[in-house]
Amino acid sequence: MLKQEIEDGTRSFADPAFRADVIDGLTRRPRAIPARWFYDRRGSELFEAITELPEYYPTRTETALLKEKAGEIAALVGPGRAVVEFGSGSSTKTPIVLEAVAPSAYVPIDISGDFLRESSKALAARFPGLPVVPVEGDFLQPIKLPAGIAAAPKLGFFPGSTIGNMIPLSSADLLRAMRASLGAESNGGAMLLIGMDRIKDVAVLERAYDDAAGITAAFNLNLLERINRELDGTIPVEAFRHRAIWNDDRARIEMHLEAREDVTFTIEGRPFSIAAGETIHTENSHKYGPRDARILLRAGGWTPIAEWTDPEDQFALYLAEAQAPRPAP
Ligand code: AVJ
Repeated sequence: MLKQEIEDGTRSFADPAFRADVIDGLTRRPRAIPARWFYDRRGSELFEAITELPEYYPTRTETALLKEKAGEIAALVGPGRAVVEFGSGSSTKTPIVLEAVAPSAYVPIDISGDFLRESSKALAARFPGLPVVPVEGDFLQPIKLPAGIAAAPKLGFFPGSTIGNMIPLSSADLLRAMRASLGAESNGGAMLLIGMDRIKDVAVLERAYDDAAGITAAFNLNLLERINRELDGTIPVEAFRHRAIWNDDRARIEMHLEAREDVTFTIEGRPFSIAAGETIHTENSHKYGPRDARILLRAGGWTPIAEWTDPEDQFALYLAEAQAPRPAP
């Protein structure tokens, strides 16, 4: 890589974890690359655009629910909790919650230090007097929270149906890790406010992930462009098409990149070939019916204490309490 290219921003340093996941993911069968690699700068911009699409109901439905139910949420949560957000926060949803619950601190947790610092600054400016304590780290593992907020009872916040990206095994692990991070037995007990997308009409779901303007297709295909940019790839991006498929057995939307023709390319000099019709699986977005959602929370050590949905039951918000360990039955 040329120094000039790095300075121009036309090339960036390759993240070794990205390289490993891509090489590994294209070598295994079925081919699959973890969805977290969608979110480079371009991918994050495309996701922002997705949240404004007419077909993509989750963001606007959840935002409206938070606004409408803010008073009820505040009454159940009570004042003085440290709000711990898993992910670096959205400029629209996070302020609704912070305004409602009179928190003692705000703690966003994210692996991307850059996004974390940007969004923390913006929030601190908007809530003068509120301690904003960003934590850089992987929230899939139990996290040690900063000493200053350790004593306060916690409210975890995990909006967006981000939990839907994980298979149920990993979702339960994550919920347990959150329980550990938030201190299930801390004074006041931990609470969790989490958004989950509902199972619904297949046509509505498939349209939400394959919009008429082609933004979701661009978001999916950007993964191949990112590989070309960062891993010196020669993938002919036009040779792939975006696919969004409802997997009814697993209750999830799957996104794939399907080869339109036989394709060969290299990544950092390594050769790959994909036959026409074969796919690279790039994302799962699991959907949960009311009972599914509640049993998932309980499996992760959280007791649901309130549940809110929009009139069409498209999206659900859950407030849950860390379950006290107790002997069977
Ligand atoms: C950010 C994971 C919640 O699954 O709906 C949107 C990502 N992918 N359109 C989702 C996404 C395609 C989104 N999550």
